[in-house]
Amino acid sequence: MNDGQYWTDRPEVASRPSEVDLLLPDVDLRLATDRGVFSADRVDRGTRYLLLEGPPLPTGAVDLLDLGCGYGPIACTLATRCPDARVWAVDVNERARDLCRANAEAAGLANVAVAAPDEVPEEIQVASLWSNPPIRIGKAALHDLLERWLDRLAPDGTAHLVVQRHLGADSLARWMDDQGWSTTRRASRKGYRLLDVAARKAQREDVR
Ligand SMILES: C[S@@+](CC[C@H](N)C(=O)[O-])C[C@H]1O[C@@H](n2cnc3c(N)ncnc32)[C@H](O)[C@@H]1O
Repeated sequence: MNDGQYWTDRPEVASRPSEVDLLLPDVDLRLATDRGVFSADRVDRGTRYLLLEGPPLPTGAVDLLDLGCGYGPIACTLATRCPDARVWAVDVNERARDLCRANAEAAGLANVAVAAPDEVPEEIQVASLWSNPPIRIGKAALHDLLERWLDRLAPDGTAHLVVQRHLGADSLARWMDDQGWSTTRRASRKGYRLLDVAARKAQREDVR
């Protein structure tokens, strides 16, 4: 993307508001975007793939998480599909958070909770984590990020990530698996991998 790094806390690039359509079989939303956020010109192809091919969501009053929400295509879709859930939409980028909040409000989705990473209460465990993760922040930072949030999965929780193959999807899958988050490939198409990740076993045994 040409608009500088989209994962900074406060993008320096001047604002230029725009809109994109998110059209899925069960979701039809117009979303506000801006420069300085990821994929401002159209819903990212990987994000769309995840939303089309991801698994059914848990039902009931569970907590869900969109890690790295950007302007909110994933968070708003999860909130539409799961009206009884609370969807945490987390991002470091303040402009992205503002857009995600505005997009959820405009869509009447009162169940989206937009937050900076440190604002999510410690006790929250999520039933399902969905993410188009920020691969470009670098391997060490990405591993730290996943370590922090994958251990927020509830004992039977699962995560669903979309990663481009040429950006290291397969080695990331191996790394997660080696760290104890059992990882399988749900689907693969046009250079994207959809990865299903289970909570670490140690986490699951904690509750027995
Ligand atoms: C690939 S983009 C996906 C954005 C959005 N979910 C979408 O599909 O359009 C990854 C997002 O992760 C955010 N991000 C980067 N580092 C982060 C961190 N440490 N914690 C939370 N979000 C982060 C970026 O600001 C960016 O919005």
